[in-house]
Amino acid sequence: MRDKEFEFIRTLVYEHSRIHLSSDKRELVAARLGKRLRATQLSSIGDYCDLLQGHDAGEELAHLIDAISTNHTFFFRENAHFDYLRTHILPEMQARQRLERWPRFEVWSAASSSGEEPYSLAITLAEILPAGGWPWHIEATDISHRILDKARAAIYRSDVVERMPRATIQKYFQRGVGPQEGNYRVKSALTANVSFHQLNLLEGEPPFATTFQVIFCRNVMIYFDRPTQEELVARLTRRLVPGGYLLVGHSESLTGIKHTLQIVKPAVYRRPPAS
Ligand SMILES: C[S@@+](CC[C@H](N)C(=O)[O-])C[C@H]1O[C@@H](n2cnc3c(N)ncnc32)[C@H](O)[C@@H]1O
Repeated sequence: MRDKEFEFIRTLVYEHSRIHLSSDKRELVAARLGKRLRATQLSSIGDYCDLLQGHDAGEELAHLIDAISTNHTFFFRENAHFDYLRTHILPEMQARQRLERWPRFEVWSAASSSGEEPYSLAITLAEILPAGGWPWHIEATDISHRILDKARAAIYRSDVVERMPRATIQKYFQRGVGPQEGNYRVKSALTANVSFHQLNLLEGEPPFATTFQVIFCRNVMIYFDRPTQEELVARLTRRLVPGGYLLVGHSESLTGIKHTLQIVKPAVYRRPPAS
């Protein structure tokens, strides 16, 4: 990959996703573009850059961002966050609900990838807030159309699902038969309470007006430079109720970036409660 091709790709990716590709990502980028070259039947990265400069580059640009971004995720990743939600945040918000009269417990999974994070949240909430009690809802967003299709389908391979306790699987997943043998589908009791939307976290406003008791924004900030991280945290903070919580990935401390949140413990922040 030539210098000017790498510069072109990295500027384009930054402009459209704010993902910052440092020079040491060059090999990784070249490898990931291989997939796009095969899909577009182009023989060189130079030709691919030409395609991205053409009039109808919009669709390919979405594929490029998809190929570059990392969608790696799994059920109950960084499980301590789900424990904290269960043991601290939910009891606190249930107590406040009586005063605040919040109609629903609202959670945002920002950068939800293929759905494992929002469905893990859904399982946690369904256990504490059973049907007929305080309703709950999860908004889940990601920049990638492709990964959102997977999330909406809610179908996961058995080796992925079977890492969860058997009782959880029996309660919340349906085992596939026939062509779906070897897969599980998330049951509608959960999917009915999770909405997926395409959203670039750094562009425009989310397609919902909700303010949230909890926002999970994990393992995406690491791809952004510091000014972008600051902008993102400010955007998320505006969407928290006073006293609402922001949980970031364990490797994504907000140390060194300007923000107005209180630090609760590593990777757990909250908007100051109204005085
Ligand atoms: C590594 S996954 C994290 C998934 C999940 N939050 C977790 O912790 O397991 C990062 C996700 O961020 C998404 N992403 C990257 N840039 C984004 C942006 N600017 N706006 C919204 N989502 C973005 C990617 O498509 C990817 O699905």
